[in-house]
Amino acid sequence: MKFFIDTANLDQIREAQDLGILDGVTTNPSLMAKEGISGKEAINKHYVDICNISDGDVSAEVLSTTYEEMIKEGDELAALHERIVVKIPMIKDGVKALKYFSDKGIKTNCTLIFSAGQALLAAKAGATYVSPFLGRLDDISVDGLNLIEEIRTIYDNYMFDTEILAASIRSPMHIINCAKIGADVITSPLPSILNLLKHPLTDSGLAQFVADSKKLG
Ligand code: E4P
Repeated sequence: MKFFIDTANLDQIREAQDLGILDGVTTNPSLMAKEGISGKEAINKHYVDICNISDGDVSAEVLSTTYEEMIKEGDELAALHERIVVKIPMIKDGVKALKYFSDKGIKTNCTLIFSAGQALLAAKAGATYVSPFLGRLDDISVDGLNLIEEIRTIYDNYMFDTEILAASIRSPMHIINCAKIGADVITSPLPSILNLLKHPLTDSGLAQFVADSKKLG
């Protein structure tokens, strides 16, 4: 399973990259705004900065919502760096845009996936990744993991190449459950990734080993 980090914060991307487990980065307009980035030039520079830190795919989301504007914007984003993945919302014009980029050999990430039918359409249009939003479904008492399972079954039935990128991760348990179901990728905030490290028995065991190592001279 690939690990992407879901942030536009350069320090956190650097920290995950330094850990040696990072396979890519996802961003969205809200995450970019959180970093105080605004204006086309600053946004484009930020994407290039992210590509220079991480050595995996970097999802950059289009801000427009019509087919013509999305393909113009996506072409510009894709030209910024060879590892940019154009992130497109799951709307009718978005499906057309996915097909356009797929035909051109440009990688895409179809975002805001909340149903199996949406994931099926995105795969038919040739999306490289689909992003089902686990946490946002759980937030409204709908089982987000069930959606990942449904998409897994559908993609396996028809051998779609589209990768399931589980998004809107809220906890280390989300990551573990996605791994059990067979999501191809998870994209997570850094704290949930780092929380996978933690176990009280590891901490107490290490404290004991360190104490005993002092007796060894
Ligand atoms: C996906 O690519 C999105 O950036 C993201 O995972 C959304 O997560 P949120 O629901 O925590 O905003």
